[in-house]
Amino acid sequence: MKQNSSLFRKKTVEQILKDANSGEHGGLAKILGVRDLVSLGIAAIVGAGIFSTIGLASFNGGPAVSLLFVFTAIACVFTALSYAQFASTVPVSGSAYTYAYVAFGELFAWIIGWALILEYAVSNMVVAISWSEYFVSMLKGFGITLPGWLTINQETASEAFAKMQSLGVAELSAYERFAANAYETAPRIGDFAIMLNLPAGIVTLLITALVYIGIRESRTASNIMVVLKIGVVLLVIIAGAFYVKPENWTPFAPNGAKGVLSGVAAVFFAFIGFDSISTTAEECKNPQRDMPKAMIYCLIICTVLYVLITLVLTGMVNYTELKVSDPLAFVFQQNGLDFMAGVISVSSVIAITSALLVYQLGQPRIWMTMSRDGLLWKRFSKIHPKYQTPSFATIVTGFVVGIPALFFKMDFFVDLTSVGTFFAFILVCAGVLYLDHKGISAQSKFRVPYLNGKYLVGILLVVAIIGLSIYGQEVVADWAALSAAEIIEHKLLTIIFWITWAVLSVMSFKYNFSILPVAGILTNLYLMTELGSSNWLIFAIWLAIGLVIYFSYGYKRSKLAQ
Ligand code: ALA
Repeated sequence: MKQNSSLFRKKTVEQILKDANSGEHGGLAKILGVRDLVSLGIAAIVGAGIFSTIGLASFNGGPAVSLLFVFTAIACVFTALSYAQFASTVPVSGSAYTYAYVAFGELFAWIIGWALILEYAVSNMVVAISWSEYFVSMLKGFGITLPGWLTINQETASEAFAKMQSLGVAELSAYERFAANAYETAPRIGDFAIMLNLPAGIVTLLITALVYIGIRESRTASNIMVVLKIGVVLLVIIAGAFYVKPENWTPFAPNGAKGVLSGVAAVFFAFIGFDSISTTAEECKNPQRDMPKAMIYCLIICTVLYVLITLVLTGMVNYTELKVSDPLAFVFQQNGLDFMAGVISVSSVIAITSALLVYQLGQPRIWMTMSRDGLLWKRFSKIHPKYQTPSFATIVTGFVVGIPALFFKMDFFVDLTSVGTFFAFILVCAGVLYLDHKGISAQSKFRVPYLNGKYLVGILLVVAIIGLSIYGQEVVADWAALSAAEIIEHKLLTIIFWITWAVLSVMSFKYNFSILPVAGILTNLYLMTELGSSNWLIFAIWLAIGLVIYFSYGYKRSKLAQ
């Protein structure tokens, strides 16, 4: 009984495997190989990030954002290895949620499941908005122009309008001019301009309807979508290469490291999704062998494509022009290649639709798993008698994604998705250390390569501090200029990062931690600190809401409690 009332009551690996093989969960066909997994991964990874948010990141950071892609990919590789180890230890489909149930117990499992809503549902708001941008641009190519106020959110439009009034129209980018005009011409109730992103709402509705009646990403469909996606990206890279003006690459980092790092959320967003491969562990022919390979291949392929595409975009137009949500088509328009821009818009619309579908399928299934464990209302695991889909959870996902996509700005959701996903990634890396420590790793058929971090984690900390004091004069001066109160206000996250590193150094010394998961925790945490404190605050509020739901419902209703 003591165990059952605990917040940290855990599922054992045996229990989860038993659950997975019994009753309605059991017997999924084991058909997926490395190629299928890579294809599924790319279907989930390549989406709004590279089609849209890269625009703003390049605007802020310039061509050097390409390097940020490499650094972020490295953080993702550490995480991918940790995911792979879990997927081989607990080869069932609940992803990080299930892993946390094994490693840290129910409370953490709930928290991760709650954070995964940010990765799946909130990220899909971004994907829907991105879809809308390309759709509008595609329609323009066909000579159809929708009224501006039906295609943009109020905040973006009113900001552009205010900028126009203060700086004059000549200072606005092409997109800002469009936004300001949309604001001016919108119908009004009193002073309130009515503006909504109708295509984003409608596409979410349609995709939800498809998901509801049971369309599933089959192997073939996914392979076709991936070919199309890679096709568009390669088309932009190859055709764009002919229009690159190398002088646009100078200065390489016009706004310094700060400008580049302000793109962390957008760049990380572009990689999100490689972890979704782990949800197919039950359907893999050989998850232990194929899962790690597939994740790493996905990350390598995407990194190469992303770096090249950033160089092409920032080479084709000046980075200051890139504050747009359809940069891939935009750069061709700017170079007078309207036909190419049209081709890219049409194919992007189809390619982004597939990303929308993947996450719209994923979210209800996570809720379904949580509901089966008793942590969410039973209705979330209700299966439609005819379509055999989690019908209620699917409808909820439709509203949860569709309504905000109508009214809000993309950037806010990008930040929120990234902070939640970093958090989940950090816990998965930490989970591997736990598996190692408890000796559960012995059951793992794939293990994160073990490199003893006993001394190394601490030595690297000392090296980093010495390096910072020698080469980071600017950073040190920056800190020295702040009062104690300002340090708490602006640098709290950085302090948390250094404290975590110090704590991990001590723990590594004590428990012989493997260095790769530790590196995963630290690189993800570092990138997370770059997101800015307002995002952390919103995330904290998000977690608080989650905890209220857990304690008022899941804690009592959990299957483990009964
Ligand atoms: N990586 C996914 C995308 O860019 C979330 O759409």
